[in-house]
Amino acid sequence: MNRTKITGINLYDFLIVILYFCDLCIPHTMEKPSYILGIESSCDDTAAAVLRNNEVLSNCIANQKIHQAYGGVVPELASRAHQANIVPVVQQALSIANIDKKDLSAIAYTRGPGLLGSLLVGSAFSKSLALSLNIPLIEVNHMQAHLLCHFIKNEKESPPAFPFLGVTLSGGHTQLVMVESHFQMKEIGKTRDDAIGEAFDKCGKIMGLNYPAGPEVDRLAKTGNPDAFQFPIPKVPGLEVSYSGLKTAFINLVNKNCQKNPKFIAENLNDLCASIQKTLVAVIMEKITLAKKEYNLESVVIGGGVAANSAIREALNLKAENEAWNVFLPPFQYTTDNAAMIGIVGYHKLISQQLGSMKQSVSARLSF
Ligand code: KG4
Ligand code: ZN
Repeated sequence: MNRTKITGINLYDFLIVILYFCDLCIPHTMEKPSYILGIESSCDDTAAAVLRNNEVLSNCIANQKIHQAYGGVVPELASRAHQANIVPVVQQALSIANIDKKDLSAIAYTRGPGLLGSLLVGSAFSKSLALSLNIPLIEVNHMQAHLLCHFIKNEKESPPAFPFLGVTLSGGHTQLVMVESHFQMKEIGKTRDDAIGEAFDKCGKIMGLNYPAGPEVDRLAKTGNPDAFQFPIPKVPGLEVSYSGLKTAFINLVNKNCQKNPKFIAENLNDLCASIQKTLVAVIMEKITLAKKEYNLESVVIGGGVAANSAIREALNLKAENEAWNVFLPPFQYTTDNAAMIGIVGYHKLISQQLGSMKQSVSARLSF
């Protein structure tokens, strides 16, 4: 009798079967991981991050404090600060990730939308580095990245399932987006004038708060009465949003009262913050509710700096609790501009081989 036969199977065949199943079960663990360097420079933050596949190894940001003195971003100063910051920030990101630049698989950078000069610094740097390392260059749409930050590896939450309603709430954009897949996004609503973050910043500015005023308004509102001052909710049809009228109503109220009482702001600061915040949030909540219903979507996925706001988070969490909405709020470190969100888009583009070109120019008004 042949001793290598096991119940009729040849030992050689048996080993082949085992190897075949090992290969089926663990191919991903044996594959070489991709290391992506993400670079973000669309506005006033210079940021770099390193990802191993969908996992963030480092996420570094150099904030440009220089703009505070001007009450808003000065584009020329922003580009110069990016030039000064970009090399140290990238070095820091590589060092924290414990990665040599020679180990990078690709470089993903923000192509737009944003300030032209700021975008140019990030794109010129990324192109040069990709060229010198002879690795792929990947172009990223900043607004897509704000939504796709939810695909960064997160132990606490799985990524949202498609399709979903994407909502970008930032300093330059307020958009409602139908998201069919990672790169199939269609804008279904937007602001016709100011963005929500811009409205927070401008209302804060009239109260003497530093730029960007959004986080400070949020902090002061916590101990204010949201019903102290009433503002009308603008009547704008469909999924269009408007913040300019509300901002003007707020500025007029402050100016009118300051004429009568020069201490009006100081005496009412927390109530003013709480009241305007309540109304700014109510405006977008009305449109999110309408879009979710009209498009019959289960999940609402929020992105952008204003996603850090405690009132919008509370309003959305209430919807999740009371009306079973499937709400995705980004972790705080991925709300305001960051490079981890650029890196995750880079990873998904790399695996689907959507590579960029050295000839591609940046675009200040890049759309989906
Ligand atoms: O996404 P982002 O960092 O930059 C743009 O792409 O515009 O968003 C910045 C905006 C600023 O207007 C800032 O005031 C606002 O996000 N923001 C907030 C809060 N944190 C940041 N607004 C309200 N409450 C916050 N906690
Ligand atoms: Zn942004």
